Amino acid sequence: MPRARNRRDADAHETKFAMGVLFLIACLLVPAAIYLLPANNNTPPWEPITCTGGNANGESNCTVTNSYGSFPDRTVCRAAAAVYPQTEKELVAAVAAVAAAKGKAKVATRHSHSFTKLACPGGRDGTVISTRWLNRTVRVDVGRRLLTVEGGMVLRDLVRVAAEAGLALPHSPYWSGLTVGGLLATGAHGSSLWGKGSAVHEYVVGMRIVTPAPASQGFAVVRELGADHPDLDATKVSLGVLGVISQVTLALQPMFKRSVTFVTRDDSDMAETVSVWGHLHEFGDMTWLPYQRKVVYRQDDRVDVATGGDGHNDFLGFRFYSKPGVMAARLLDTWLEEKDVDTARCLMARLPMWKVQREAYGFSNDGVSFTGYPVVGFQHRIQASGSCLDDGGGGLLLSACTWDPRLRGGLFYSSGFSVGLSKVAAFVADVQRLRDINPRAFCGLEGKLGVFMRYVKASSAFLGKPEDSVDLDIVYYRSHVEGTLRRHADVVDEMEQMALHKYGAIPHWGKNRNFAFDGAIDKYPRAHEFLRVKNTYDPDGIFSSEWSDQVLGVKGSPSIVRDGCAIEGLCVCSGDSHCMPDKGYFCRPGKVYKEARVCVRV
Ligand SMILES: Cc1cc2nc3c(=O)[nH]c(=O)nc-3n(C[C@H](O)[C@H](O)[C@H](O)COP(=O)(O)OP(=O)(O)OC[C@H]3O[C@@H](n4cnc5c(N)ncnc54)[C@H](O)[C@@H]3O)c2cc1C
Ligand SMILES: *[C@@H]1O[C@H](CO)[C@@H](O)[C@H](O)[C@H]1NC(C)=O
Ligand SMILES: *[C@@H]1O[C@H](CO)[C@@H](O)[C@H](O)[C@H]1NC(C)=O
Repeated sequence: MPRARNRRDADAHETKFAMGVLFLIACLLVPAAIYLLPANNNTPPWEPITCTGGNANGESNCTVTNSYGSFPDRTVCRAAAAVYPQTEKELVAAVAAVAAAKGKAKVATRHSHSFTKLACPGGRDGTVISTRWLNRTVRVDVGRRLLTVEGGMVLRDLVRVAAEAGLALPHSPYWSGLTVGGLLATGAHGSSLWGKGSAVHEYVVGMRIVTPAPASQGFAVVRELGADHPDLDATKVSLGVLGVISQVTLALQPMFKRSVTFVTRDDSDMAETVSVWGHLHEFGDMTWLPYQRKVVYRQDDRVDVATGGDGHNDFLGFRFYSKPGVMAARLLDTWLEEKDVDTARCLMARLPMWKVQREAYGFSNDGVSFTGYPVVGFQHRIQASGSCLDDGGGGLLLSACTWDPRLRGGLFYSSGFSVGLSKVAAFVADVQRLRDINPRAFCGLEGKLGVFMRYVKASSAFLGKPEDSVDLDIVYYRSHVEGTLRRHADVVDEMEQMALHKYGAIPHWGKNRNFAFDGAIDKYPRAHEFLRVKNTYDPDGIFSSEWSDQVLGVKGSPSIVRDGCAIEGLCVCSGDSHCMPDKGYFCRPGKVYKEARVCVRV
């Protein structure tokens, strides 16, 4: 009975480890240190573009990555050159130079927050066009409530500029470090089923986009698209393959206030509430904690500007933390996620949410302290946050956003997929069945604040959501070492495959691991219209890369099939070699969704 014996030994080990963890908590006071050791000074944000050569015209011999320093396939992206245009004229010249040379180009932004390999130009000798200095306000038309900004403007600046004119962008992603060009390109959103919904691209009423052109037109042109231009449905969500968005005009609203309250309930009726919550509250969202069988409902509504309150949102997860804090948390995380220690992992899983709830997510009623719900405040102080991007003095200890690669800290996977509103109740019920089989298998997710649910409306954008949906976001541990096993990875994999394949969910363009994009383009009924515009704007595919061709179904597959690929989320396993048979992990059907194929320890 060697196996039973091993299990018993493992249990004994587990108890010992759990005691060890408790000891750690008690003595060192680092429970979820990531949230407990804030820093006082921070460091300039990480640079995703690194070049070793260069002259006055730009930099050469470059590598490009994202703000976590790692694409899902862990390859290093190379580019021959990086340019930093400061005006639209310089931008046109940059595109023309690449087009004349029949090269490849890609826009990279200030921080490049997409997890997927979107920022990498095709081939190995392409040109990176940074929009870093294209971040100015072009025009504010208060009367018509229109704001025109350059494509590289960071969301936090956009929100501030609008507020200074008494205007509000009604919906946005929750993280303010994104650029307007990047967040549009990936269809980024907040949470709402009201009006036009939560995706920023729904509020675009004009654009200027620089595309390649024939030699007779100087190799590059600026195309100006007004509100009624049919191509706007392609350029609003473009994955960056149509050219460079130079300017965007957004339709804003008069400034308003919001009233936010978080309510925790048990999850027994959640399959029903998930389809109605978004109809009840304009900015409602939900955080599901499957292990604790709880749901945190965000009850968030528009209120009159005359309502009292100067609430502020400075989300705890988007603040800056010190290097020792982040490193300690990571050590603990690595141990919890890679070792066979369910008891300890589940114990620790409660801490982040406990901490977050105790500190009201980082909300305050007046910009300083939290005194109770509801928090009432102006839209621009509530809609998004990101204080880890603030300029600080730069202390002795490096401090930055927790995922900054220089901290060697929080590397994680971020999956986001949208299930149609009509199907989400059945999906939730299925996941509850999976949870009931072994609730402790969900502790890893729960330690990263569970399953986050937001509402997004159907869009006319060709690469936007085809139907009203609930977008589910999960964050989970990712090792710095390729092929490292995670405990209960099969449950996450089954949940993702169930969403994508049984319920036809659509992956967020800027999140997810490779396998999620297999066949995804077939879920967009108007994808062919997008490709038609792409062939007109960029017939030579200058702005296309291997990755964009794979996800758009132009050429190749986003899955990478090789030994161990399912462990890294690069493929869905179809044979044991895609898992780690030598470490005891084999390819098996899912527990609830039998058509799933996941790596299971047997
Ligand atoms: C902490 C965090 C929180 C997040 N929160 C949310 C959220 O609440 N909601 C949500 O939907 N998503 C969220 N995301 C995901 C995010 O929206 C996407 O990854 C987004 O695309 C990143 O924007 P970026 O400016 O960093 O663009 P990048 O990742 O640099 O670029 C994305 C793509 O857009 C292209 N591109 C960028 N600018 C231009 C331009 N001017 N012209 C043409 N192409 C361009 C790039 O070439 C690339 O292909 C979050 C991500 C992080 C890291
Ligand atoms: C290009 O950069 C790589 C590192 O990314 C370096 O090893 C190499 O020497 C550089 N080549 C030149 C010509 O600078
Ligand atoms: C543009 O970005 C730079 C940093 O990259 C910043 O210093 C500057 O304030 C930004 N400008 C605007 C108008 O936001």
